[in-house]
Amino acid sequence: MSLRLSRFVGHRGIAAEAPENTLTGFRLAAEAGFSWVEFDVMLSADDVPVLHHDEVLGRTDNGVGPVAAQTAAQLKTLDAGAWFGPGFAGERIPTFEETISCCRALGLSMNVEIKPTTGREVRTAEIVSAFLNRLCPDLTDRIIVSSFVPECLRVAQEKAPDFLRGYLSDTMAEDWHAAAKGLGCFSIHPNHACLDAALITAVHESGFRVLTYTVNDPARAASLIGWGVDAVITDELLADALA
Ligand code: G3P
Ligand code: MG
Repeated sequence: MSLRLSRFVGHRGIAAEAPENTLTGFRLAAEAGFSWVEFDVMLSADDVPVLHHDEVLGRTDNGVGPVAAQTAAQLKTLDAGAWFGPGFAGERIPTFEETISCCRALGLSMNVEIKPTTGREVRTAEIVSAFLNRLCPDLTDRIIVSSFVPECLRVAQEKAPDFLRGYLSDTMAEDWHAAAKGLGCFSIHPNHACLDAALITAVHESGFRVLTYTVNDPARAASLIGWGVDAVITDELLADALA
């Protein structure tokens, strides 16, 4: 498998420039020169995978209550752009399927973060896996499936084994090495706050790539890149800032 990573991965599209986890965000990320984007996939009440970060509606849309209590059709009535700026009013919460089509058309590679709501870990990973197998058999070298939830990665390993997996960790305090190895992961995705040069070297020596989130400060990005991280996941136009 020859996967071509890029140094910068647009976080939730390009979250400083456009409403997160939206198709406009992916278009703007591509126009800004990103070749990879990260986004969060969660299930609606009727088991449709959609893009959303928070378990509850409200911060990034005009909904209320849990995402998992709304059908995909109900979620589609929400405005997912006006909160970010009047120019984005009318933006809709995209389905995973719409997102795959959009990224495919834009030539964007995808870091698909499985973001299950509580109690739906296995189901979310099963459905994401089925969508990847059905819609992306030709994109196995352009997708990394990641999750903070080891159970989700275990299901992806079993149900969508052709796709690379990334082990998300907020602290790297747990036994990331054994866990990621057991899950057959390609990469480790740590919070940049817990990284230093020695840990990056240790992760590389264990055979994993390092994609770190969410790096918005150009000086911090330059340090991390200097220490050898493979990619920084960012809300910002960091490539421009570091040029
Ligand atoms: O995948 C990297 C990053 O998105 C993980 O954290 O909370 O922004 O989904 P979060
Ligand atoms: Mg995410």
